[in-house]
Amino acid sequence: MTTNAQSNRRIVLAARPRTAADLSCFRLEAVPIDAPREGEILLRTLWLSLDPYMRGRMSDAPSYAPPVAIGGVMTGGTVARVEKSLNANFRVGELVLATSGWQEFAISDGSDLVKLPANMDSPSQALGVLGMPGFTAYIGLLDIGKPQPGETVVVAAATGAVGSVVGQIAKLTGCRVVGVAGGPEKCAWAVQQLGFDACVDHRSAALSELLAPACAKGIDVYYENVGGKVFRAVLPLLNAHARIPVCGLISQYNEAPQPTDGESVPALMRAILVKRISLRGFIISDGYGHRRGEFLEAMSSWLREGKIKYREDVVQGLENAPSAFLGLLAGRNFGKLVVKVGAADRERAAGKGDAA
Ligand SMILES: NC(=O)c1ccc[n+]([C@@H]2O[C@H](COP(=O)([O-])OP(=O)(O)OC[C@H]3O[C@@H](n4cnc5c(N)ncnc54)[C@H](OP(=O)(O)O)[C@@H]3O)[C@@H](O)[C@H]2O)c1
Repeated sequence: MTTNAQSNRRIVLAARPRTAADLSCFRLEAVPIDAPREGEILLRTLWLSLDPYMRGRMSDAPSYAPPVAIGGVMTGGTVARVEKSLNANFRVGELVLATSGWQEFAISDGSDLVKLPANMDSPSQALGVLGMPGFTAYIGLLDIGKPQPGETVVVAAATGAVGSVVGQIAKLTGCRVVGVAGGPEKCAWAVQQLGFDACVDHRSAALSELLAPACAKGIDVYYENVGGKVFRAVLPLLNAHARIPVCGLISQYNEAPQPTDGESVPALMRAILVKRISLRGFIISDGYGHRRGEFLEAMSSWLREGKIKYREDVVQGLENAPSAFLGLLAGRNFGKLVVKVGAADRERAAGKGDAA
């Protein structure tokens, strides 16, 4: 591919995955940069967020949001800078939170943009701990999980963007927190750095045997990010009146659609009945906007006071977004996955090496 300073590099959906997504599903293109019209803004992407929901947008199976069209730019949250503005509400140089997708430049009419402080130390936080994943953790845990001091909270994908925040807020609430994560390094980090009481490795063949003693008083809240074998290990340990915020099922995202009469469903239904369990799915973009101010206030002060820690997994260059995204679906990220898009990309594409 040839690129020049006047092109917009973007990653489009080349094909829908049948089961597991792979690199052939994506295509890197270079197209001319669009010029903004009256009322519009030209954005330059600085940071791109990679999130598990994007796997759903690659599929045309019915879901809560429409799929990306074949040949369409992959959807994604971004932090961007205003490059040109024909919109009186935005000035050149301003920093915004946008939904401009996997591309270096995008046009917006401003209606989907949220201004960020110009002097923000770590703008990528707006895609993670202070953004959609952090907000998802906050609402799902506090509104649906309703943790009480002394209760046991188990969180899956415990070191990820959502799970790491869930566990830390549960600790601040006075709960015993048990994480489930992939591998000894992630489990050690959850205990030593995030302050979880325990963390068990879901890759271990003895997952159930490890989880039971870590949850000696049973499980009151299970924050579901994963599904599959983690859920099967959790189910027998749930206490009466347990709550399960059903946030995500990442272990299933690369699978072919499942029949609805799977083996664990009768066991699940019986547990829901006899233990009077509340289990509720939620989508953070759906009706929680009025709580964002409260979340930002709480999370900003927790961050300032050092009560919440976060970790980012930074990938350099837009061209590396597809492989990084596939890694996210396989647990190869360690922390909130973000792509640094910008000058370094262009210099690499022009053969000048990595300037990041
Ligand atoms: N409902 C909503 O509105 C909403 C909003 C945001 C996110 N979510 C959901 O929240 C979950 C976490 O998202 P995130 O952004 O925080 O991602 P993340 O945890 O930062 O990254 C994904 C992690 O999932 C784990 N994973 C992947 N495949 C797995 C498998 N087969 N079995 C067990 N674990 C697996 C991996 O961690 P390990 O190596 O530890 O296994 C991987 O690092 C996802 O299910 C996502 O769809 C939902």
